[in-house]
Amino acid sequence: MNLITNRAEMNQLSKQLKQNSKSIGFVPTMGFLHEGHLSLVAKAKQENDVVVMSIFVNPLQFGPNEDFETYPRDIERDEKLAKNAGVDYLFVPTVKEMYPTEMGSKLTAIKRTNVLCGKSREGHFDGVVTVLSKLFHIICPDKAYFGMKDAQQVAVVDGLINDYFFPIELVPVETIREIDGLAKSSRNVYLDASERKEAPQLFQSLTLAKNKILQGERSIENLTLFIKRYIEENTSGEIDYVEMYSYPSLEPIERIKGKIIIALAVKYSKARLIDNIVMDVK
Ligand code: PAJ
Repeated sequence: MNLITNRAEMNQLSKQLKQNSKSIGFVPTMGFLHEGHLSLVAKAKQENDVVVMSIFVNPLQFGPNEDFETYPRDIERDEKLAKNAGVDYLFVPTVKEMYPTEMGSKLTAIKRTNVLCGKSREGHFDGVVTVLSKLFHIICPDKAYFGMKDAQQVAVVDGLINDYFFPIELVPVETIREIDGLAKSSRNVYLDASERKEAPQLFQSLTLAKNKILQGERSIENLTLFIKRYIEENTSGEIDYVEMYSYPSLEPIERIKGKIIIALAVKYSKARLIDNIVMDVK
């Protein structure tokens, strides 16, 4: 595995790969790798000649009161995990490398961002589309891999690729979970022992709601109330949101019908956890 920190060098390598007709699969991450990230690599390896992973904790997508400074980082461990997973090129730029000068023009994610994390994390998706545009230009991938754990991010990036004619195929990958159902996340290390014990109840609430839908429940009000009550009764977390929309358009819906997302965010003492279920309802 090659470790690259310089964007010109990375771009040069990508161009060479293209000249040699090698397809590039790209896995953008913020590091502190876990099996969720590595499942994206596994999929990228199946479908491409070469896999490039980036590790960059992007300051632009963190709000002023969020965890940019304390976001978990361990590059040595990440290097080993990436290498073992079969990453060919690991791109790890500094903030200065990605933002060498003050930005004179801005990208704003307009659609699909007035709900869910876009609503509670102002400016977050502007930061995401900005950094991804830069990374896409540097790495020139054929395919880019994103986890459905961040389903809103998948929807927003899909819009970015279409709006700006990036010649890239977005590949969504299903959420990887711990045995007890908790979605794997770099932020899970912030949970204390009792929070960690109860955190699987978040996915459990979504699973129970899904079962209700399968049994015929179609009322958004009933389902939302059910999930909120379940979380309140079974966890100590503070609910940020429990919402349902059409997916991937993320438009409000009156009743459960078609492809929908049920998504939640819950705050614990040091971590804010998100999870979702996407399902197609006849
Ligand atoms: P990060 O949170 O590090 O996630 C990197 C990728 O891994 C994202 O596509 C995310 O959805 C995916 N992922 C995280 N947990 C997962 C899980 N349990 N199962 C499957 N996939 C999972 O998302 C970001 O970084 C950043 O916003 C980024 C896209 C890198 C832009 O800065």
